[in-house]
Amino acid sequence: MARISTPPPQSFDLGRVFFWIIVTLTAAALPVYLPGGLRATITTAPLLAAVFDPGLSNPFGACWVAFVGTFELRDLRGEPKWYGTFFNKAEMVLSTFAAWLVWAATDALVRKDDPFSIVAQIVAVGGTFAIANNGLSLVVTSVRTSTPLSRIWAVSISKIAIGLVSQVPLGWLMAEVADKVGQWAAILFMVPLLLARYSFSKYAETRDLFYGTVSALSQAVDAKDGFTRGHADRVSRIAGAIARELGVSEREIEQIELAGLLHDIGKIGVEDRILMKPSRLEPDEQELMRRHPIYGASILEPSAALRPLVPIVLHHHENFDGSGYPEGLKGAEIPLGSRILLVADTYEAMTSDRIYRKAPGHDKAIEQLHKYRGTQFDPKIVRALEACIQRRGQTSFEVSDLPPINYETLAELRRRLARDPVVRDAHAG
Ligand SMILES: [Fe+2]
Repeated sequence: MARISTPPPQSFDLGRVFFWIIVTLTAAALPVYLPGGLRATITTAPLLAAVFDPGLSNPFGACWVAFVGTFELRDLRGEPKWYGTFFNKAEMVLSTFAAWLVWAATDALVRKDDPFSIVAQIVAVGGTFAIANNGLSLVVTSVRTSTPLSRIWAVSISKIAIGLVSQVPLGWLMAEVADKVGQWAAILFMVPLLLARYSFSKYAETRDLFYGTVSALSQAVDAKDGFTRGHADRVSRIAGAIARELGVSEREIEQIELAGLLHDIGKIGVEDRILMKPSRLEPDEQELMRRHPIYGASILEPSAALRPLVPIVLHHHENFDGSGYPEGLKGAEIPLGSRILLVADTYEAMTSDRIYRKAPGHDKAIEQLHKYRGTQFDPKIVRALEACIQRRGQTSFEVSDLPPINYETLAELRRRLARDPVVRDAHAG
């Protein structure tokens, strides 16, 4: 900044620099928080407009717009810490400077009467800005939230890519209109920018709503099943970690994680006297219990968003050697997600405490998985789980973001009532 500002260029138009700073400040005041911890803003368009504006004596003007225009209220409140703000500013100024370098390098080649060369310049300048700006944010968010880059890409950037890319031509148009028609007219471009922002926020909102509903359903099943809170959540995390270890695509990992949350949803259709029975199930009761994957599949089937989980949930009790249920599939016939869930479910069940017993623990769980690999479990998946635990440690799947349970689960209540039945109040009916 010092290098491009001392001495300041003589020909710059201070009013114009202020104009773009105000437009950028307005855009920066409206960030959207996306899944994966990324923040999306609509500052790309005004910053590129500053790069394309010939009246700013660039790179001087554009870099100052990037520095001052991207201040937000949270910076003044001291969140993030000063080094976070410093990094954000450096990122903005550097990506704007990089975009200007490309503009300066290509400007001599652009012929004003050749639309092709103008579009090529817009693509080169916008592409440089987008890659420098989003690339740095992506890496920092990934380190800060310990989320793999591929995941942030899949759940955030790929879903709002059109909104992000559309800001590039808008930036050029804003500069052209400000130059040829007047600055007031450039403000009209805030309307499509706000539309892009609206699409970001709608995506984030819809995803939150979807995950909130799935999580509520999964906790309802945990409560009915007598598990302590967070069983399905842990199964989901373990299954996701195994899937990632196996190099499965992000889309499939997400489906496996969702299936982990909802794998036992079919237990809603199993009678409580069977589900809660403290002793061994009779053969006919076992038969009814074994229907829960089928009930689960039919509960999920009508929802378009949950339909891809149907095969995973339907086969989550199939054994590797074909001795499982409901269809007795074997080996690779069983969906990969189902094979992963069986291992994750077994490991989770043996490493977390239950209302009625302490956890057998990690060593016993691994012993069990080894004993039945090749018969019940896919050996490849057992190996992947072991590799995961070796790298991340045994406590890596602990649920930390769920508040402790503060209500009596249905299973606890039933057990208590069985021990000391409530004396019925004659008036209560
Ligand atoms: Fe199950």
